Amino acid sequence: MSFDHPSFGRIDESRTIIFDTTLRDGEQSPGFSMNLEEKLRMAESLSDLGVDVIEAGFPVASKGDFESVNEIAKVVRDSVVCALARSGGKNDIQAAGEAIAPAERGRIHNFISTSPLHMKYKLRMEPETVLEIITEGNRKARQYTDDVEWSAEDGSRTEPDFLCRCVEAAIRAGATTINIPDTVGYATPEDMERIFSMLRTRVPGADEVIFSAHNHNDLGLAVANTLASLRGGARQIECTINGIGERAGNAALEEIVMAIRTRHDQFPYRNRIVTEKLLRLSRMLATTTGFDVQPNKAIVGRNAFAHESGIHQDGVLKNAATYEIMMPESVGWSKSSLVMGKHSGRAAFRDKLVALGYGTLGDNQLNEAFSRFKDLADRKKVVYDEDIIALVDDEVRDHARIRFLSLEVSAGSKRQAEATLEIEVDGELVESTANGNGPVDAEFNAIRSAFPHEARLALYSVGAVTEGTDAQARTSVRLEEDGKLVDGQGADADTVVSAVRAYVHALNKLLVKRTRAEPEAIGA
Ligand code: KIV
Ligand code: ZN
Repeated sequence: MSFDHPSFGRIDESRTIIFDTTLRDGEQSPGFSMNLEEKLRMAESLSDLGVDVIEAGFPVASKGDFESVNEIAKVVRDSVVCALARSGGKNDIQAAGEAIAPAERGRIHNFISTSPLHMKYKLRMEPETVLEIITEGNRKARQYTDDVEWSAEDGSRTEPDFLCRCVEAAIRAGATTINIPDTVGYATPEDMERIFSMLRTRVPGADEVIFSAHNHNDLGLAVANTLASLRGGARQIECTINGIGERAGNAALEEIVMAIRTRHDQFPYRNRIVTEKLLRLSRMLATTTGFDVQPNKAIVGRNAFAHESGIHQDGVLKNAATYEIMMPESVGWSKSSLVMGKHSGRAAFRDKLVALGYGTLGDNQLNEAFSRFKDLADRKKVVYDEDIIALVDDEVRDHARIRFLSLEVSAGSKRQAEATLEIEVDGELVESTANGNGPVDAEFNAIRSAFPHEARLALYSVGAVTEGTDAQARTSVRLEEDGKLVDGQGADADTVVSAVRAYVHALNKLLVKRTRAEPEAIGA
């Protein structure tokens, strides 16, 4: 099998296309929303990671989505920028086409449901109408770009003969990638392998297109189903960083890529991912969205390479291969996580940032981050990579309108807590003092008085970045306003300061969200 792809040129049997949908399927799941700046930063980092296609959003859904796809299309050069559209949506394909227009290589991904259940209850359409829409949608998409993907939503539960007809219609109308999602995470690896083998043997024109796998994780089978899809002949993998996505999420990019790399004997496929950057991307997403990965998460979890039992430690010291199937460094863990102290200078700090993947930090951000690092090193015995990552992620976040400057809190068992806060709002210094039921309540009241707003605090949680009582605190704050949710994060050696940073971060995100139009109701 080899074929000329509009965006990738000649593709041979062993090449797999990594299609990341963190910014679309991932971002649309509850609590994972990102603002424009965060999406741009993620997109640039995904491109730097070696992702072939970045699905940047669903432009017709809202002005904000359109804008982020459009801005990503302007800056990303090494990856194809893709926009989602309903095959039969009124303005979907036009919006997607306009959003990706500035891209060097742009793709429109259009989809419609094909399973009996979805056609009858969701679409209320006859199969013949769905076939017509597939033809129309793909033809229309081809007017904007030669790189067109079509998806059979709920494809894994679609009746095989009808699925073949749909795929044939999409290919005839100009689709160059055919995606068969396991939308509800119901399929098994055997199902997915069989579906792709069947389509490749039965559908006319199948050898002229790339087949693509998009597996959800409702039964914890997303990665296994993706690997089985490759065996069946799929050569595009749709996945997300940390496996985020609708409900139980999508197949995790880092797990698939490392499974292929580690078991190359069984999966002899190539991709462009720089695996040493996987951990950095995982961390970046976790800090941006406020959702940490579980400690035992494969590849990027805190314990993924930690050996606690004496027998294991002894084995690893004698020969790492006894208990490690991959080298920790191959996914970005550093050999020794103890890094810097209060005597480290700016040059060493900059080198460390480059090693951690923050080479593009501007001078102002570097100066701010360095002064916070010095402050931390004064207070904390040892500074770990995790501390630096938390601190820098905090620094590079968008503090657009409101900036935290300083905080003083007095609290204890004998008096009511009082917080005095200084923030900058649109460049103006604002100071306020407030009392509260404990230090955090007092400081949140102080923020409300310095910058009056109606948003409700929907979640407040604190965790430690590393171990020990001098560890930095990482705080997540969720605010809710008119049904809109935003999450903010903050990190600091002082728990109460990290809480203010998180609140201010969330508030800035809320202000961005306020300026966006309401999404129109989406239903394919
Ligand atoms: O899960 C799914 O079916 C999707 C499609 C829009 C591709 O995300
Ligand atoms: Zn999906």
